[in-house]
Amino acid sequence: MPRRHESDAAQRHTPVLLQRCLDLLAPALESDHPVLIDCTLGMGGHSEGALTRFETLTVIGIDRDPEAIALASARLAPFGDRFRAVHTTYDHVDEVARDASPYGDGTVDAILMDLGVSSLQLDDAGRGFSYSRPAPLDMRMDQSVGTTAQQLLDTADEREITRILRTYGEERFAPRIAAALVRRREAGRPVRETADLAELVRESVPAAARRTGGHPAKRTFQALRIAVNAELEVLGRAVPRALNSIRVGGRLVVESYQSLEDRIVKQAIAVGTTTRAPEGLPFVPDDAAPYLAAVTHGAEKADDDELASNPRSAPVRLRAAIRLRPAADAPAPEPERAADPGPRRSRPTGTDRTSKTTRGRRKR
Ligand SMILES: C[S@@+](CC[C@H](N)C(=O)[O-])C[C@H]1O[C@@H](n2cnc3c(N)ncnc32)[C@H](O)[C@@H]1O
Repeated sequence: MPRRHESDAAQRHTPVLLQRCLDLLAPALESDHPVLIDCTLGMGGHSEGALTRFETLTVIGIDRDPEAIALASARLAPFGDRFRAVHTTYDHVDEVARDASPYGDGTVDAILMDLGVSSLQLDDAGRGFSYSRPAPLDMRMDQSVGTTAQQLLDTADEREITRILRTYGEERFAPRIAAALVRRREAGRPVRETADLAELVRESVPAAARRTGGHPAKRTFQALRIAVNAELEVLGRAVPRALNSIRVGGRLVVESYQSLEDRIVKQAIAVGTTTRAPEGLPFVPDDAAPYLAAVTHGAEKADDDELASNPRSAPVRLRAAIRLRPAADAPAPEPERAADPGPRRSRPTGTDRTSKTTRGRRKR
Protein backbone atom coordinates (compact mmCIF):
# COMPACT_ATOMS: atom_id res chain seq x y z
CA MET A 1 0.00 0.00 0.00
CA PRO A 2 1.26 3.53 -0.68
CA ARG A 3 2.46 5.54 2.31
CA ARG A 4 0.19 8.40 3.36
CA HIS A 5 2.41 11.12 1.92
CA GLU A 6 2.37 9.29 -1.41
CA SER A 7 -1.42 9.21 -1.64
CA ASP A 8 -1.47 12.89 -0.68
CA ALA A 9 1.02 13.57 -3.44
CA ALA A 10 -1.19 11.73 -5.94
CA GLN A 11 -4.14 13.88 -4.90
CA ARG A 12 -2.08 17.08 -5.19
CA HIS A 13 -0.43 16.15 -8.48
CA THR A 14 -2.04 17.64 -11.57
CA PRO A 15 -1.05 15.84 -14.79
CA VAL A 16 0.42 18.27 -17.30
CA LEU A 17 -1.83 19.13 -20.29
CA LEU A 18 -4.10 16.20 -19.43
CA GLN A 19 -7.08 17.17 -21.59
CA ARG A 20 -4.89 18.09 -24.56
CA CYS A 21 -3.06 14.74 -24.34
CA LEU A 22 -6.38 12.87 -24.22
CA ASP A 23 -7.74 14.87 -27.18
CA LEU A 24 -4.62 14.03 -29.19
CA LEU A 25 -4.91 10.31 -28.31
CA ALA A 26 -8.70 10.12 -28.81
CA PRO A 27 -8.90 9.34 -32.57
CA ALA A 28 -6.65 6.28 -32.01
CA LEU A 29 -8.79 5.01 -29.13
CA GLU A 30 -12.11 4.65 -30.94
CA SER A 31 -11.93 0.89 -31.61
CA ASP A 32 -13.97 -1.54 -29.45
CA HIS A 33 -11.22 -2.47 -26.99
CA PRO A 34 -8.30 -0.13 -27.53
CA VAL A 35 -4.94 -0.45 -25.76
CA LEU A 36 -2.80 2.47 -24.59
CA ILE A 37 0.72 2.12 -23.17
CA ASP A 38 1.55 4.87 -20.68
CA CYS A 39 5.36 4.71 -20.70
CA THR A 40 5.70 7.03 -17.70
CA LEU A 41 3.02 5.94 -15.29
CA GLY A 42 4.25 8.13 -12.39
CA MET A 43 1.36 8.73 -10.03
CA GLY A 44 -1.11 7.47 -12.62
CA GLY A 45 -2.70 10.84 -13.36
CA HIS A 46 -2.71 10.58 -17.15
CA SER A 47 -3.66 6.89 -17.00
CA GLU A 48 -6.57 7.63 -14.69
CA GLY A 49 -7.79 10.39 -17.01
CA ALA A 50 -7.61 8.05 -20.01
CA LEU A 51 -9.33 5.12 -18.25
CA THR A 52 -12.12 7.43 -17.11
CA ARG A 53 -12.74 9.06 -20.49
CA PHE A 54 -12.41 5.97 -22.74
CA GLU A 55 -14.68 3.38 -21.14
CA THR A 56 -13.44 0.23 -22.93
CA LEU A 57 -9.76 1.22 -22.85
CA THR A 58 -7.02 -0.98 -21.37
CA VAL A 59 -3.92 0.84 -20.11
CA ILE A 60 -0.52 -0.77 -19.57
CA GLY A 61 1.55 1.53 -17.34
CA ILE A 62 5.36 1.36 -17.40
CA ASP A 63 7.61 2.94 -14.80
CA ARG A 64 11.21 2.28 -13.69
CA ASP A 65 10.42 3.53 -10.18
CA PRO A 66 8.98 0.77 -7.95
CA GLU A 67 7.34 3.40 -5.70
CA ALA A 68 5.47 4.87 -8.66
CA ILE A 69 4.34 1.37 -9.69
CA ALA A 70 3.00 0.68 -6.18
CA LEU A 71 1.28 4.04 -5.81
CA ALA A 72 -0.31 4.10 -9.26
CA SER A 73 -1.39 0.44 -9.00
CA ALA A 74 -3.26 1.22 -5.77
CA ARG A 75 -4.79 4.34 -7.26
CA LEU A 76 -5.93 2.57 -10.43
CA ALA A 77 -7.13 -0.65 -8.74
CA PRO A 78 -10.81 0.41 -9.14
CA PHE A 79 -10.38 -0.06 -12.90
CA GLY A 80 -9.74 -3.80 -12.37
CA ASP A 81 -8.13 -5.64 -15.28
CA ARG A 82 -8.42 -2.58 -17.53
CA PHE A 83 -5.11 -1.48 -15.95
CA ARG A 84 -1.87 -3.31 -15.36
CA ALA A 85 1.60 -2.10 -14.41
CA VAL A 86 4.99 -3.18 -15.71
CA HIS A 87 8.13 -2.34 -13.78
CA THR A 88 10.79 -1.69 -16.39
CA THR A 89 12.45 1.11 -18.36
CA TYR A 90 10.45 2.48 -21.27
CA ASP A 91 12.94 1.33 -23.90
CA HIS A 92 11.26 -2.07 -23.36
CA VAL A 93 8.04 -0.62 -24.77
CA ASP A 94 8.26 -2.92 -27.81
CA GLU A 95 8.27 -6.05 -25.60
CA VAL A 96 5.39 -4.67 -23.54
CA ALA A 97 3.46 -3.95 -26.77
CA ARG A 98 4.11 -7.51 -28.05
CA ASP A 99 2.50 -8.90 -24.88
CA ALA A 100 -0.43 -6.49 -24.94
CA SER A 101 -1.20 -6.23 -28.67
CA PRO A 102 -4.91 -6.76 -29.42
CA TYR A 103 -3.96 -7.25 -33.10
CA GLY A 104 -1.48 -10.09 -32.61
CA ASP A 105 1.23 -8.18 -34.49
CA GLY A 106 2.99 -6.44 -31.61
CA THR A 107 1.20 -3.13 -32.08
CA VAL A 108 -1.12 -1.16 -29.82
CA ASP A 109 -3.38 1.81 -30.50
CA ALA A 110 -1.49 4.57 -28.74
CA ILE A 111 1.54 5.35 -26.59
CA LEU A 112 2.00 8.24 -24.17
CA MET A 113 5.28 9.53 -22.69
CA ASP A 114 5.35 12.27 -20.01
CA LEU A 115 9.11 12.51 -19.51
CA GLY A 116 11.32 13.47 -16.58
CA VAL A 117 10.83 13.20 -12.84
CA SER A 118 7.50 13.20 -11.03
CA SER A 119 6.53 15.55 -8.22
CA LEU A 120 6.48 12.45 -5.99
CA GLN A 121 10.18 11.91 -6.72
CA LEU A 122 11.06 15.61 -6.37
CA ASP A 123 9.14 15.95 -3.11
CA ASP A 124 10.54 12.78 -1.52
CA ALA A 125 13.34 14.04 0.69
CA GLY A 126 15.18 10.70 0.56
CA ARG A 127 15.69 10.61 -3.22
CA GLY A 128 18.19 13.46 -3.64
CA PHE A 129 16.58 14.96 -6.79
CA SER A 130 15.97 18.38 -5.30
CA TYR A 131 18.59 20.98 -4.34
CA SER A 132 16.12 22.44 -1.85
CA ARG A 133 15.70 19.28 0.26
CA PRO A 134 18.58 17.90 2.33
CA ALA A 135 19.19 14.27 1.28
CA PRO A 136 21.92 11.82 0.29
CA LEU A 137 23.04 12.26 -3.33
CA ASP A 138 21.16 9.31 -4.83
CA MET A 139 19.05 10.52 -7.81
CA ARG A 140 18.31 7.02 -9.15
CA MET A 141 14.74 6.63 -10.38
CA ASP A 142 15.01 2.94 -9.48
CA GLN A 143 16.90 2.74 -6.20
CA SER A 144 17.35 -1.02 -6.54
CA VAL A 145 19.89 -0.78 -9.40
CA GLY A 146 22.63 1.37 -10.87
CA THR A 147 25.08 4.00 -9.70
CA THR A 148 24.12 6.89 -7.41
CA ALA A 149 25.05 10.54 -8.01
CA GLN A 150 27.38 10.21 -5.02
CA GLN A 151 29.23 7.29 -6.63
CA LEU A 152 29.46 9.23 -9.87
CA LEU A 153 30.91 12.32 -8.15
CA ASP A 154 33.32 10.15 -6.14
CA THR A 155 34.74 8.44 -9.21
CA ALA A 156 34.34 10.48 -12.44
CA ASP A 157 37.36 12.56 -13.45
CA GLU A 158 37.23 16.36 -13.77
CA ARG A 159 36.85 16.29 -17.56
CA GLU A 160 33.97 13.88 -17.31
CA ILE A 161 32.16 15.92 -14.64
CA THR A 162 32.62 19.00 -16.85
CA ARG A 163 31.18 17.12 -19.82
CA ILE A 164 28.16 15.94 -17.84
CA LEU A 165 27.37 19.39 -16.46
CA ARG A 166 27.90 21.09 -19.81
CA THR A 167 26.05 18.56 -21.96
CA TYR A 168 23.12 17.59 -19.77
CA GLY A 169 22.77 20.81 -17.75
CA GLU A 170 23.88 23.30 -20.43
CA GLU A 171 25.86 24.79 -17.52
CA ARG A 172 28.14 27.68 -18.56
CA PHE A 173 30.28 27.32 -15.45
CA ALA A 174 30.75 23.56 -15.74
CA PRO A 175 34.59 23.69 -15.58
CA ARG A 176 34.57 25.81 -12.40
CA ILE A 177 32.03 23.56 -10.68
CA ALA A 178 33.87 20.38 -11.72
CA ALA A 179 37.20 21.80 -10.51
CA ALA A 180 35.66 22.73 -7.15
CA LEU A 181 34.15 19.25 -6.77
CA VAL A 182 37.46 17.54 -7.50
CA ARG A 183 39.39 19.93 -5.17
CA ARG A 184 37.01 19.01 -2.35
CA ARG A 185 37.41 15.32 -3.14
CA GLU A 186 41.20 15.53 -3.20
CA ALA A 187 41.18 17.41 0.09
CA GLY A 188 39.35 14.42 1.63
CA ARG A 189 36.09 16.40 2.01
CA PRO A 190 33.91 15.21 -0.90
CA VAL A 191 30.37 16.63 -1.11
CA ARG A 192 28.10 14.24 0.72
CA GLU A 193 24.55 15.51 0.33
CA THR A 194 22.26 17.76 -1.68
CA ALA A 195 22.60 20.93 0.42
CA ASP A 196 26.39 20.56 0.36
CA LEU A 197 26.40 20.24 -3.44
CA ALA A 198 23.97 23.16 -3.89
CA GLU A 199 26.22 25.38 -1.75
CA LEU A 200 29.38 24.32 -3.62
CA VAL A 201 27.72 25.22 -6.94
CA ARG A 202 26.52 28.58 -5.57
CA GLU A 203 30.04 29.41 -4.41
CA SER A 204 31.58 28.32 -7.73
CA VAL A 205 29.56 30.58 -10.03
CA PRO A 206 30.29 34.33 -10.34
CA ALA A 207 28.21 36.55 -8.03
CA ALA A 208 26.41 38.20 -10.99
CA ALA A 209 25.25 34.80 -12.30
CA ARG A 210 23.76 33.90 -8.88
CA ARG A 211 21.14 36.62 -9.28
CA THR A 212 19.55 35.40 -12.53
CA GLY A 213 17.88 32.23 -13.85
CA GLY A 214 16.69 30.60 -10.62
CA HIS A 215 18.87 28.66 -8.17
CA PRO A 216 22.41 28.28 -9.56
CA ALA A 217 22.40 24.54 -8.69
CA LYS A 218 19.32 23.79 -10.82
CA ARG A 219 21.31 22.90 -13.95
CA THR A 220 23.87 20.79 -12.03
CA PHE A 221 21.13 18.72 -10.41
CA GLN A 222 19.40 18.20 -13.78
CA ALA A 223 22.69 17.14 -15.39
CA LEU A 224 23.55 14.62 -12.67
CA ARG A 225 20.05 13.15 -12.74
CA ILE A 226 20.22 12.67 -16.51
CA ALA A 227 23.66 11.01 -16.25
CA VAL A 228 22.75 8.77 -13.31
CA ASN A 229 19.65 7.45 -15.08
CA ALA A 230 21.20 7.41 -18.60
CA GLU A 231 18.03 9.26 -19.54
CA LEU A 232 18.94 10.36 -23.06
CA GLU A 233 20.38 7.01 -24.06
CA VAL A 234 17.21 5.22 -22.91
CA LEU A 235 14.96 7.81 -24.57
CA GLY A 236 16.94 7.60 -27.82
CA ARG A 237 16.13 3.87 -28.01
CA ALA A 238 12.59 4.22 -26.68
CA VAL A 239 11.14 6.72 -29.17
CA PRO A 240 11.74 4.65 -32.35
CA ARG A 241 10.64 1.49 -30.51
CA ALA A 242 7.43 3.26 -29.49
CA LEU A 243 6.89 4.46 -33.06
CA ASN A 244 7.34 0.86 -34.23
CA SER A 245 4.82 -0.41 -31.66
CA ILE A 246 1.78 1.51 -32.87
CA ARG A 247 -0.62 0.29 -35.54
CA VAL A 248 -1.37 2.26 -38.70
CA GLY A 249 -3.56 5.14 -37.49
CA GLY A 250 -2.11 4.75 -34.00
CA ARG A 251 -0.65 7.73 -32.17
CA LEU A 252 2.40 8.64 -30.09
CA VAL A 253 2.11 11.65 -27.75
CA VAL A 254 5.21 12.91 -25.90
CA GLU A 255 5.65 15.64 -23.29
CA SER A 256 9.28 16.79 -22.82
CA TYR A 257 10.57 19.18 -20.19
CA GLN A 258 13.98 20.16 -21.46
CA SER A 259 15.55 20.77 -24.85
CA LEU A 260 17.75 17.65 -24.93
CA GLU A 261 14.72 15.35 -24.56
CA ASP A 262 12.64 17.38 -26.99
CA ARG A 263 15.40 17.25 -29.62
CA ILE A 264 15.38 13.42 -29.56
CA VAL A 265 11.60 13.32 -30.00
CA LYS A 266 11.60 16.04 -32.68
CA GLN A 267 14.29 14.28 -34.73
CA ALA A 268 12.58 10.88 -34.58
CA ILE A 269 9.33 12.43 -35.80
CA ALA A 270 11.15 14.45 -38.47
CA VAL A 271 12.74 11.28 -39.92
CA GLY A 272 9.33 9.63 -40.23
CA THR A 273 7.52 12.62 -41.72
CA THR A 274 10.11 13.19 -44.46
CA THR A 275 9.97 11.48 -47.83
CA ARG A 276 13.06 9.46 -48.72
CA ALA A 277 12.54 9.80 -52.50
CA PRO A 278 15.48 11.32 -54.37
CA GLU A 279 14.83 14.95 -55.35
CA GLY A 280 13.49 15.48 -58.86
CA LEU A 281 11.45 12.25 -59.11
CA PRO A 282 8.01 13.02 -60.60
CA PHE A 283 6.29 10.76 -58.02
CA VAL A 284 7.09 9.39 -54.54
CA PRO A 285 7.52 5.57 -54.63
CA ASP A 286 5.48 3.82 -51.92
CA ASP A 287 8.53 2.62 -50.04
CA ALA A 288 9.94 6.16 -49.85
CA ALA A 289 6.75 7.79 -48.60
CA PRO A 290 6.64 9.21 -45.04
CA TYR A 291 5.51 6.70 -42.45
CA LEU A 292 4.43 9.35 -39.93
CA ALA A 293 2.39 12.53 -39.99
CA ALA A 294 2.88 15.16 -37.29
CA VAL A 295 -0.32 15.91 -35.43
CA THR A 296 1.01 18.95 -33.56
CA HIS A 297 2.46 21.93 -35.43
CA GLY A 298 5.96 21.89 -33.99
CA ALA A 299 5.95 21.67 -30.21
CA GLU A 300 2.88 22.86 -28.32
CA LYS A 301 3.37 24.75 -25.05
CA ALA A 302 1.13 25.21 -22.04
CA ASP A 303 -1.37 28.07 -22.42
CA ASP A 304 -2.04 30.73 -19.76
CA ASP A 305 -4.83 28.73 -18.07
CA GLU A 306 -2.64 25.64 -17.75
CA LEU A 307 0.28 27.73 -16.46
CA ALA A 308 -1.93 29.38 -13.85
CA SER A 309 -3.35 26.07 -12.57
CA ASN A 310 -0.19 23.97 -12.96
CA PRO A 311 3.18 25.78 -12.73
CA ARG A 312 5.02 22.50 -13.51
CA SER A 313 3.75 22.85 -17.07
CA ALA A 314 5.95 25.90 -17.79
CA PRO A 315 8.75 24.08 -19.65
CA VAL A 316 6.56 21.45 -21.38
CA ARG A 317 6.93 20.78 -25.12
CA LEU A 318 4.19 18.52 -26.47
CA ARG A 319 4.56 16.64 -29.76
CA ALA A 320 2.32 14.01 -31.34
CA ALA A 321 2.52 11.85 -34.46
CA ILE A 322 0.30 9.34 -36.23
CA ARG A 323 1.61 6.22 -38.02
CA LEU A 324 0.73 6.11 -41.74
CA ARG A 325 2.44 2.86 -42.83
CA PRO A 326 3.03 -0.40 -40.92
CA ALA A 327 6.26 -0.60 -38.93
CA ALA A 328 6.98 -3.92 -40.70
CA ASP A 329 7.32 -1.98 -43.99
CA ALA A 330 8.72 1.28 -42.64
CA PRO A 331 10.44 0.89 -39.28
CA ALA A 332 11.64 3.97 -37.42
CA PRO A 333 15.43 3.60 -37.19
CA GLU A 334 17.19 3.34 -33.83
CA PRO A 335 20.16 5.64 -33.15
CA GLU A 336 23.35 4.16 -34.58
CA ARG A 337 25.36 4.61 -31.43
CA ALA A 338 24.46 5.27 -27.82
CA ALA A 339 23.49 8.94 -27.34
CA ASP A 340 25.05 8.77 -23.89
CA PRO A 341 28.33 6.92 -23.38
CA GLY A 342 27.99 7.06 -19.57
CA PRO A 343 30.48 8.58 -17.18
CA ARG A 344 34.23 8.01 -17.43
CA ARG A 345 35.85 7.17 -14.13
CA SER A 346 39.01 8.43 -12.50
CA ARG A 347 39.59 5.01 -10.89
CA PRO A 348 37.99 1.58 -11.12
CA THR A 349 35.15 0.82 -8.72
CA GLY A 350 34.01 -2.65 -9.72
CA THR A 351 30.52 -1.37 -10.52
CA ASP A 352 29.20 -2.20 -13.97
CA ARG A 353 26.62 0.42 -14.93
CA THR A 354 25.62 -1.35 -18.11
CA SER A 355 24.81 -4.73 -16.61
CA LYS A 356 21.98 -3.58 -14.39
CA THR A 357 19.09 -2.93 -16.70
CA THR A 358 15.83 -3.00 -14.78
CA ARG A 359 13.95 -5.97 -16.17
CA GLY A 360 11.79 -7.06 -13.28
CA ARG A 361 8.14 -7.09 -14.26
CA ARG A 362 4.99 -6.86 -12.23
CA LYS A 363 1.88 -8.04 -13.85
CA ARG A 364 -1.59 -8.49 -12.64
C1 LIG B 1 6.56 13.21 -15.09
S1 LIG B 1 6.37 11.68 -14.32
C2 LIG B 1 4.89 11.06 -15.02
C3 LIG B 1 3.65 11.54 -14.32
C4 LIG B 1 2.38 10.88 -14.82
N1 LIG B 1 2.11 11.21 -16.19
C5 LIG B 1 1.20 11.23 -13.95
O1 LIG B 1 0.24 11.83 -14.46
O2 LIG B 1 1.22 10.94 -12.75
C6 LIG B 1 7.57 10.70 -15.11
C7 LIG B 1 7.65 9.27 -14.63
O3 LIG B 1 8.42 8.56 -15.60
C8 LIG B 1 9.26 7.66 -14.96
N2 LIG B 1 10.40 7.43 -15.83
C9 LIG B 1 11.38 8.30 -16.16
N3 LIG B 1 12.26 7.74 -16.98
C10 LIG B 1 11.82 6.47 -17.20
C11 LIG B 1 12.29 5.38 -17.99
N4 LIG B 1 13.41 5.49 -18.71
N5 LIG B 1 11.59 4.24 -18.00
C12 LIG B 1 10.44 4.13 -17.26
N6 LIG B 1 9.94 5.12 -16.49
C13 LIG B 1 10.62 6.28 -16.47
C14 LIG B 1 9.64 8.33 -13.66
O4 LIG B 1 10.02 7.36 -12.70
C15 LIG B 1 8.34 9.07 -13.30
O5 LIG B 1 7.56 8.30 -12.44
